[in-house]
Amino acid sequence: MENIYGDYETTLHSVAASLTARIKAYADAHLAANGEKLYDHLSWRIKSPESMEDKCRRESYPLTTHSALKRVHDAIGIRIVCLFIDDIHKNIEEIKKLPGIRVFREKDYISAAKPNGYRSYHLILEAEDEAPDIEGNTPGLYFAEIQLRTIAMDTWAALEHELKYKKDIRHPELISEELRRCAGELAACDVSLQTLRELIRN
Ligand code: GTP
Ligand code: MG
Repeated sequence: MENIYGDYETTLHSVAASLTARIKAYADAHLAANGEKLYDHLSWRIKSPESMEDKCRRESYPLTTHSALKRVHDAIGIRIVCLFIDDIHKNIEEIKKLPGIRVFREKDYISAAKPNGYRSYHLILEAEDEAPDIEGNTPGLYFAEIQLRTIAMDTWAALEHELKYKKDIRHPELISEELRRCAGELAACDVSLQTLRELIRN
């Protein structure tokens, strides 16, 4: 076996590309109909085989292709970054309408932020694809984690991610507290910007 994804690495890429294309398609249709961008930008990645192996080890899953595809749910990751909070919910609605897609799990870290201040809406999907999966289902069923957030939430997550891996920092409690405070301030800005949008619209 070349890496933990075995024969499925190309399939994962094509499932991710096709999901992304479907998201772009509804957003383009919305833009044409309403003159409004449903999100600012979108990105996707396949988790690197090394990170996938680390995750399986952490979770005590056997280091197999089956674990990578069926027990871990974020081999495919898609991030949708929106201008306004209400756009997150519009995207969720559109995603749920896509045929051949089932919501496997939903995590609303916007209504209830993580204790460290992290905010985002996570949808774990099971998406059908014509490529049979490792359990022999046709169409195949592939997990994908979609993270939906505002630009402010994305900025915070990127900074926090960067700081999280800094070793031997001084005053870690103070830094955590400041990060949490910044997250709160950014969230308040998101609410103000949402209100501003309503004002401009009406
Ligand atoms: P993993 O964190 O992926 O092992 O799975 P989980 O079951 O804990 O899911 P969770 O929803 O907590 O996190 C999934 C993903 O969300 C992570 O891989 C990150 O990309 C992102 N995420 C979650 N929490 C944080 C956080 O505190 N900071 C940052 N920067 N990203 C986070
Ligand atoms: Mg986590």
